[in-house]
Amino acid sequence: MGYNTFNAFGCDYNEENLLAMAHSMVDEGLVDAGYSTIIFDDCFTKKERNVNGELLEDLERFPSSMRNLTDKLKDLGISASAYSDAGYKTCAGYPGSYGHEKQDLQTFSDWGFDYLKYDNCYIPFDNITQENVYGRYARMAEAIAARAAEENEAPFWFSICEWGWQQPWIWGKRLGHSWRINGDIKPWWSTLAAIIDNASFQYWATDFYGHNDMDILEVGNTGQGNPIGNLTIDEAKSHFTAWALLKSPLFISTNLTNSSAEAREILKNHDLIKINQDPNVGESIAPFRWGNDQPDFVSNTTHPAQYWSGNSSYGVVFMLLNTLDTPQDMFFNLTESWAIRSGRLYDVYDMWAHTNNGTVLRNMTVTLPPHGVAALLLNEVGPEPDPTTLALPYCAIYWQCSWSNGTYYSN
Ligand code: GAL
Repeated sequence: MGYNTFNAFGCDYNEENLLAMAHSMVDEGLVDAGYSTIIFDDCFTKKERNVNGELLEDLERFPSSMRNLTDKLKDLGISASAYSDAGYKTCAGYPGSYGHEKQDLQTFSDWGFDYLKYDNCYIPFDNITQENVYGRYARMAEAIAARAAEENEAPFWFSICEWGWQQPWIWGKRLGHSWRINGDIKPWWSTLAAIIDNASFQYWATDFYGHNDMDILEVGNTGQGNPIGNLTIDEAKSHFTAWALLKSPLFISTNLTNSSAEAREILKNHDLIKINQDPNVGESIAPFRWGNDQPDFVSNTTHPAQYWSGNSSYGVVFMLLNTLDTPQDMFFNLTESWAIRSGRLYDVYDMWAHTNNGTVLRNMTVTLPPHGVAALLLNEVGPEPDPTTLALPYCAIYWQCSWSNGTYYSN
C-alpha cells in the first residue's frame, strides 16, 4: 500500500510537490491507514547516465539530493520505491536498466529505495537478449537475489509491470511480488469494469506470495489529461472494494492536496484494508455467479462477474457488484458460495456502513444503485432454527439431497 506519482503527476513532479503529498498523506491519516511507501514512478532520474554508466539524480528537481529526500520521507514514516524498466529506456524515455541491473540496484539502494516497479518499454530485439519476457524480468530478479545475498540485506520488493500481454499471472510469482494484469487504468467506469472482468479469470493467481496488480487506485482522480475521467461515489466505492478484496496492491495516485474528503474516506476504509492486508489469508475473493442475465465464466468487459465471495480472518466475505446502469436487487443463496456453511444462521456486517445488519437465513437480497457495491462480512452465530418451523427442507443443490430412506428430495 502506498502512493504512486504517475497518474497524478506524470513526469511533472519534484521535491516540493512530493513532500507536500507526503505531508498530506500523514495529515489525512493515510499513512496510519497503511499507505506507507511512495513509488517515484517514471522520470525521476536524469535522461543520460554518466560515463561509468551510472544513473544520475536530477538535482534541479530534487535539490536536497535523493538520499536526503528519501530520509525526509522516512522521518514521516514513508519508505521510498523506485521505478525502472527491463529495456533500454523507461516508457517516458529515461534510462532503462537492461544491462545495468546490478549497477542500478546499487544506485537505488544508495538513494534509499527498497522496492522496484519494473516496466516493459523499449526492450531489445530477441536476437540480442535471446530471452523472452520472462528472461528479461528474470535478469533483474536474479540481480535482486544476488544483491540481497551479497549485502546480507532484505531483497528489493519486485513489482512487475508487463501489462498482462504475456500472462504474468502464470509466471510472475516466480520472480516478483506482484504483476500487472492489465494496461494503464483510466478514471472511468468502463476501464474499471474491464479490469474486474480480466481479474475474474485470474484471481486464482493471487496468494500470500504474489498478487495480481490491477493498477493504481483512481478514487478521487479526475485523470491526468483525461478531462472526462471522473467516478461517481458509488463507482469509486466499487473500485476500492474490488481492488481491496481481490488483494491488489493499493496505490493512491491522486493529487491529495485537492482531492475531496469523501474520496479520502473511501481510501481509508479500515474494514476493507484489513482484509486486503489479512495476515492469515492471502487469497483473493472469487466469483461464484456472473449475474442473472449472463452466463458464468464468459468474459464480458462491460458487465463483469457480480457475485463474489471468499475467506478471511474476520469472516466470510461477500462482494456484490451491480454492473448495470439501473438499480438492481441482488439476490443469492448463501450456499452458492463455497466459503459458507450450510444449515447455519449468519450475522451480517456491512463494511461500508460499518454496522451490523442482523442475521440472515439461507439467502439474502441487497438493493444496489447503478455501479454500486455491497461488501459484507458474514459470521455464523449458530444452527438454523428448528427445520420443522421452516417451509422446506433445504439443500444447496436440491436434487443431490435425499431422505434417509434413499428417496431423492426432488422425487
Ligand atoms: C506504463 C506503466 C504505468 C507508468 C508509465 C510510466 O508503462 O504501465 O503504470 O509506470 O508506464 O511511463
